[in-house]
Amino acid sequence: MNPPSAVDYVEDLSPGGETLPPRARYTSSDAMSLSLNGSWCFRLSPTADAQDDSFAAPGHDAGDWARVSVPGHWVLQGHGAPIYTNHRYPFPVDPPRVPTENPTGDHLRTFDLPPGWPADGGAVLRFDGVESCARVWLNGTDVGEFKGSRLPHELAVGHLLKPTGNVLAVRVHQWSAGSYLEDQDQWWLPGIFRDVTLLHRPADGVLDFFVHASYDHATGAGTLRVDSDVDGRVTVPALGIDAATGESATVPVEPWTAETPRLYDGVLATAGERVTLRIGFRTVALEDGLIRVNGRAVLFKGVNRHEWHPERGRALDPETMRADVLLMKRHNVNAVRTSHYPPHPAFLDLCDELGLWVIDECDLETHGFVAQGWRGNPADDDRWTPALLDRAARMVERDKNHPCVVVWSLGNEAGTGRGLTAMAKWIRDRDPSRPIHYEGDHDCRDTDVYSRMYTAHDEVERIGRGLDGGPRRRRELPFLLCEYGHAMGNGPGGMADYQDLFTAHDRLQGGFVWEWIDHGVQDQRYGFAYGGDFGEELHDGNFVCDGLLFPDRTPSPGLAEYKKVVEPVRIDGHGTDGTVRVTNAHDFADLSALAFVWSFQVDGETVGAGSLAVPALAPDESAVVKLPERPVGGTGGAETGWTVRALLAADTAWAPKGHEVAWTQIPVAARAPITMTAGERPVHGDDLITLGPAAFDARTGALRSVGGVAVTGLRLDVWRAPTDNDDGAAWQTDPRLGPLWRKLGLHRMRHRLEAVERDDDALTVRTRVAPAAAESALRTVYRWTSDGTRLRLTVSVAPEGDWTLPLPRLGVRLGLAGTADRVRWFGGGPGEGYPDTKSASRVARWESTVDELQTPYVRPQENGARADVRWAEIGGLRVDGEPEFWFTARRWTSEQLDAAGHLTDLSAGDTVWVNLDHGQHGIGSQSCGPGVLPRYQLRAVPSEFTFHLTETDG
Ligand code: GAL
Repeated sequence: MNPPSAVDYVEDLSPGGETLPPRARYTSSDAMSLSLNGSWCFRLSPTADAQDDSFAAPGHDAGDWARVSVPGHWVLQGHGAPIYTNHRYPFPVDPPRVPTENPTGDHLRTFDLPPGWPADGGAVLRFDGVESCARVWLNGTDVGEFKGSRLPHELAVGHLLKPTGNVLAVRVHQWSAGSYLEDQDQWWLPGIFRDVTLLHRPADGVLDFFVHASYDHATGAGTLRVDSDVDGRVTVPALGIDAATGESATVPVEPWTAETPRLYDGVLATAGERVTLRIGFRTVALEDGLIRVNGRAVLFKGVNRHEWHPERGRALDPETMRADVLLMKRHNVNAVRTSHYPPHPAFLDLCDELGLWVIDECDLETHGFVAQGWRGNPADDDRWTPALLDRAARMVERDKNHPCVVVWSLGNEAGTGRGLTAMAKWIRDRDPSRPIHYEGDHDCRDTDVYSRMYTAHDEVERIGRGLDGGPRRRRELPFLLCEYGHAMGNGPGGMADYQDLFTAHDRLQGGFVWEWIDHGVQDQRYGFAYGGDFGEELHDGNFVCDGLLFPDRTPSPGLAEYKKVVEPVRIDGHGTDGTVRVTNAHDFADLSALAFVWSFQVDGETVGAGSLAVPALAPDESAVVKLPERPVGGTGGAETGWTVRALLAADTAWAPKGHEVAWTQIPVAARAPITMTAGERPVHGDDLITLGPAAFDARTGALRSVGGVAVTGLRLDVWRAPTDNDDGAAWQTDPRLGPLWRKLGLHRMRHRLEAVERDDDALTVRTRVAPAAAESALRTVYRWTSDGTRLRLTVSVAPEGDWTLPLPRLGVRLGLAGTADRVRWFGGGPGEGYPDTKSASRVARWESTVDELQTPYVRPQENGARADVRWAEIGGLRVDGEPEFWFTARRWTSEQLDAAGHLTDLSAGDTVWVNLDHGQHGIGSQSCGPGVLPRYQLRAVPSEFTFHLTETDG
């Protein structure tokens, strides 16, 4: 037998030795601490054992080493490269063994103790997150090794400290046995990516403690009991509480909820230390098949949040964490699932303070075992159970005192098995006050909530109605969609339809959109890089960019849509009867924090506005409120309507006064039909036919100009650059449209000219539009008429043959001079909208530029359509549509957009391409979920639509 190697611990499937027992995270009022974040010396080796441990000895000369920032990932700091895989392990599946090529980063720094550091007591070195396995030396002494990347690990180091010149050495291996438990869908990013801190531990100081702060909604009383390893006293001045640890105190309190995050400051004092407490009183219970907080069922309007920063990866700074919480609150999000690991602890402090329900998820995923039918899955192998239990304990002990954490989650996509059952049992024993979640357990043997991901609407409805059968235990549990609405690229679609189901069926307690942010990596060449851009041999492309925020945290249209869909106030109007019904859809807060305002629009212009008195309705209450007298205006065929908005009445901790929380539009009068007397005759010149302001190519009938505005390439268009949802995921069993559209040839339609006909008052161009190799076609007739000033185009489309596929779009495309820039329109805005993503599209007058109309999806694809457009002006042309149309303008063609892999592949040409669409196919969520619901599909049926084109002054 070989002697044990110095790096055996890397492949040891036990959780690691020598670390201190896990405990609560807290802030000491008087114990000193020293941050060891900053610039460290760094040396990268290709294997775990390439270097001996002499670097850890004091006096080692690291003068020629590189430097990295801690917290950070070395692969994002110029050493090696990140790897993105969804669930495939980027190494052979041979647990617990890892490849010989195991990038290993030696980190080294020195530090002095700050003045006043006490000589007595102990000291603890805390690592909040290291991927994936670390060995630590202080002043040349090996103090321990650990695994569990997104979990805290503490080492006792007091006996080794010197006042000055301490040498801290940390060896980090990219791969370890722990990697088998960390197969989450994200970048593999080794490094010391969370804080490193030295904590003084006073003699008789606080060790671990558990704050139990419950709320009795029947009496309004809160009961506080703090169980502490070290006896002491607990004081909460605002409540007059002064109790011994272990003793209960019951007093009237304001409860904590995500909507009303009331925290009380307290102190836990032992003989040697005072620790600050932030106490939120609330009781989570599973009652009558529902998750109730303080007696009320909660509707989760959630997101899945991975930690991400485009330059720093999972090393998040406090400002970024706060930005996430503020963005969530401002977009009506009320819940976070910390997919798929406990977040940086500061994030939970923010959720306590600003109010978000949290499902805290353990750092566990073994999804790669799916490739072998879950054979060898560590989650069902007793040898791994200690590691799983260690992970559960590190999460629960660290986070147990957060009121925001209302549910524990065992992890994600780790199959089922004994290890998971053991985790659930341990958590239940340790903390019976919170339900347990885990999606992989469809029979709910270990869990307290039935959870699924990407379930289609019809099945969700069956579950809501209790018609899904299943084991008895499951039938009695509430339902959560722990992932839905896959926000990859353009989309997700169908969110309003889900919300309608959640509202209609009590058992459906909401869902969590997948996911919060695109994990694009800031990159010079690509803008934002995704899987494959670093030359990975295995990767899953842009599946890592599936968030509601772009990588730089700009909200995508998907977030605007979600904000509208989950708004906590419903305002319904009944057109002409002069009233609105306002319903409070909060679970806890009344409406006293909101101010309501009305405005009245005539042809999209506001002609009157004022405030609207709405009573401070309690949750679920509604009231009918009278609107004021209708302002004058809006006669003579004008389109009129009300807009009613709910705004914050005062500044809050998460948004300023005036921030819009909810809104609705109530149409009153529809616009009158456009009248035009088609008196003009087409006149044949040498090469041109003229008709009113327009000139056409005499041979082809192609439009050349409208007045002084040159127009190129106007013709029927059915193609859009497939979205990620059009393309669908490879494993989808339903037909995937992107590939089918291509197979049929919708991206290479040929336009056969059949006739150019002139009669008394019209120019008619007849064509047959079809792809090579297919017999189905779209017979398309363009009929042009004019009254001398305006030009009218009526397009008639008659499908021929067997059209089983929906069309991507149906309309005309035309080219304008590249100088076209400003765009004005009356219709849906300000952002894009598609048939199943236009809840947030508000009908008004909007103005933009061609560049601003583009939505910068990390992988370019169809984007930027404005919905329900009545008219639009661009490049000297005004287009009025009958009926309303979808408007898109871009500086490249759909074909160029389709061919681009990154935004940097797109460059402006000398033409602005405008699409005026009669129809768009919906978006759906098939990149990892259901496709487009039937009512949003664009079927090839006989269609007719009209545009009026006029030259404008501008
Ligand atoms: C789920 C998984 C997530 C992510 C998502 C697709 O199956 O839990 O981690 O991979 O699919 O983006």
